[in-house]
Amino acid sequence: MKRIETRTLYKEYKKFADQKVTLCGWARTIRDSKNIAFLELNDGAFKSVQVVLEKDKLNNYEEVVKQNVGASFKVEGKLVLTPNAQQPFEINADSVEVLGESSADYPLQKKRHTVEFLRTIPTIRPRGNLFNAVFRIRSVAAYAIHKFFNERGFVYVHTPIITSSDCEGAGDMFQVTTLDVEKVAKEGKVDFKDDFFGKKVSLTVSGQINEEPITHAFGKTYTFGPTFRAENSNTTRHAAEFWMMEPEICFCDLDELMDNEEEMVKYVIRYVMDECHDEIEFLNKFVDTGLVDRLTNVVESEFVRLDYTKAIEMLLKVKDRFVFPVEWGVDLQSEHERYLTEEVYKKPVFLTNYPKDIKAFYMRLNDDGKTVAAVDLLVPGVGELIGGSQREERLEKLLARIHELGLKEEDYSWYIDTRRYGTNVHSGYGLGFERLVMYLTGVQNIRDVQLFPRTVGSIQG
Ligand code: 4AD
Repeated sequence: MKRIETRTLYKEYKKFADQKVTLCGWARTIRDSKNIAFLELNDGAFKSVQVVLEKDKLNNYEEVVKQNVGASFKVEGKLVLTPNAQQPFEINADSVEVLGESSADYPLQKKRHTVEFLRTIPTIRPRGNLFNAVFRIRSVAAYAIHKFFNERGFVYVHTPIITSSDCEGAGDMFQVTTLDVEKVAKEGKVDFKDDFFGKKVSLTVSGQINEEPITHAFGKTYTFGPTFRAENSNTTRHAAEFWMMEPEICFCDLDELMDNEEEMVKYVIRYVMDECHDEIEFLNKFVDTGLVDRLTNVVESEFVRLDYTKAIEMLLKVKDRFVFPVEWGVDLQSEHERYLTEEVYKKPVFLTNYPKDIKAFYMRLNDDGKTVAAVDLLVPGVGELIGGSQREERLEKLLARIHELGLKEEDYSWYIDTRRYGTNVHSGYGLGFERLVMYLTGVQNIRDVQLFPRTVGSIQG
């Protein structure tokens, strides 16, 4: 008999009432009460199925009930509706085959483990409810992003991982080399002409610089892939390897860009809430009791649009409560962002028009000569979720900024060409995908929304 997946059974269990079904999966728990036992079988879906094992019916009853948690089984039996129980149905087993035993040291036993312990077993932790929920939501959110942009005619482009330019002009890049570093160290000199590409290259910190020229071929594009930052930031929101989703839109100013960001964030939240109802309910119960209210509130509310200068005025009024100083020109710290999003507005805030000195060279200079048309989206609980801007489309202004910052014009020649060949008002942003997953799940640490987190001083697998 062909096996039926648990997710199908939960959708259509009434259709299978009193019929024979075959299921495969792993034991989450096995409870034996002498003549009857209960096997909680999970096949990867969020919900498990209860299988009832009767000693009289199964000739291998003893072999089955002595199995450890984590063992895999094939079960054939009758689906019985259980309208008065927590689960709408159970399986009354006619036969059970042990497919694969599990050692007694299987790490996910009944007791609740700390997330810190679970981080030490990255390959096993997705077999438990918490990480099963988180990583399914991660998958559904990625799909929702693709769906959103494809429905709106964006072209998905794949920008390179290895790059010879530094998008943010900020350093903090992982170098890529095939040179023998020990030999180089002994010789005391390095010549990148001998390296694989004949020049110094790194892992990308953002796809934007490669993407922007391609957007000028399609009108609107997005790239979605891994990015790398060698920042020495050991926080709950920074990873050395993370995924970024970067849309870029021609003939689009800062206001229209914010419209797209707001629509996209709401779309993804709605989609995840619809598709991952059980997972969200679980997270709301065990991880963050305010999750459903918060997500519902975001979908229903209008995001705030606040000028940086105005935000500084607001922060100055309560400056004594902050550890970090507040003054015009500083980059906001997470305590400042939290105050604005969590206390003042209690919803997402677009912070716009930052001082040019704390932002990247490609952002459009405002008429005041001091600020740029940048926008960060700050959200309660996570802080900065998205960073973006209207791009500097005026050739002479872009060149002036490149020179002012001591960047090499020739390193950006094909980027600059877009301003020579049909320049236009255009804008784009980068969404930190892990931060979105944190926001969607209520999980507080970036290490718990990545399968194999890479953070400063820590890597496994
Ligand atoms: O604000 P950032 O640095 O923007 C850029 O890289 C632009 N080139 C994007 C663009 O306009 N196409 O980074 C974008 C987002 C941040 O808002 C944050 O959510 C996330 O990427 N991010 C990180 N996430 C996890 N770990 C880190 N170390 C991150 N650094 C940035």
